[in-house]
Amino acid sequence: MLVVIKDDYAAISAEAARLVANRLRKKPDLVLGLATGSTPLGLYDELVRLHREEGLDFSKVTTFNLDEYVGLSPDHPQSYHHFMQVHLFSRINLQPRFTHVPDGLALDIEDHCAWYEAQIRRYGGIDLQVLGIGANGHLAFNEPGSSLGSRTRVKTLTQKTREDNARFFGTVDDVPRYAITMGIGTIMEARELLLVATGEVKADAIAAAVEGPITAMVPASIVQMHPRAFLIVDRAAASRLRGEYSSSFEEAVMVRRPLGRE
Ligand code: F6R
Repeated sequence: MLVVIKDDYAAISAEAARLVANRLRKKPDLVLGLATGSTPLGLYDELVRLHREEGLDFSKVTTFNLDEYVGLSPDHPQSYHHFMQVHLFSRINLQPRFTHVPDGLALDIEDHCAWYEAQIRRYGGIDLQVLGIGANGHLAFNEPGSSLGSRTRVKTLTQKTREDNARFFGTVDDVPRYAITMGIGTIMEARELLLVATGEVKADAIAAAVEGPITAMVPASIVQMHPRAFLIVDRAAASRLRGEYSSSFEEAVMVRRPLGRE
């Protein structure tokens, strides 16, 4: 796992966008896994800027979102469908038929989850999965205690997650109780992971995920097992890390593989 610490939110967003753009330029038909929440907003704004100013082309890209609330229709203002539409899909040249978000209104949720997994396989698997992290260490909506080998399924949201997300809904009672989420096993099959985190509120979760034991009680700790995981965090989110980390990927790679030695 490569951990890079940047000064602030603007810097992590720019660094994350640089990594996504780099992968997209190398593989125009990239299969990109996406996250919602506050953290990737800066990354999405930066991708929009690169699309508008530098012609970054998303026309062949396929996307798969991590999760969706059960019971919310795609046009509900707090649905993740709507979130993606507003913050990314409508602002770049993605083809709508290549975008995938779990269906919160699916009548047969189990069947829908199996279909979602099959779609990921049909497109050849996810090349790069963007991730946030919950203050409780959750990954997508895989709450503490989730099986580390889990697949896409319905999960009950913890009280902590519902309280954290109440800011979008008004009151905690308005936050749905269930979500469809990619499983931890599903996420771990992506060829690369890109986890972004900002703010002191994430410092404990980042310390536990990066330096703690791998445990289902901190689902994000499984990222330690991924062969190509990149974590971009700001100083506040990194404030409880004890190890020494780099401030850029170039520097991190140089440290691991000094010049002249392969
Ligand atoms: C969203 C998701 C969640 C968030 C996490 C952090 O698709 O899967 O795991 O990444 O709850 O949310 P923010 O970024 O709002 O702090």
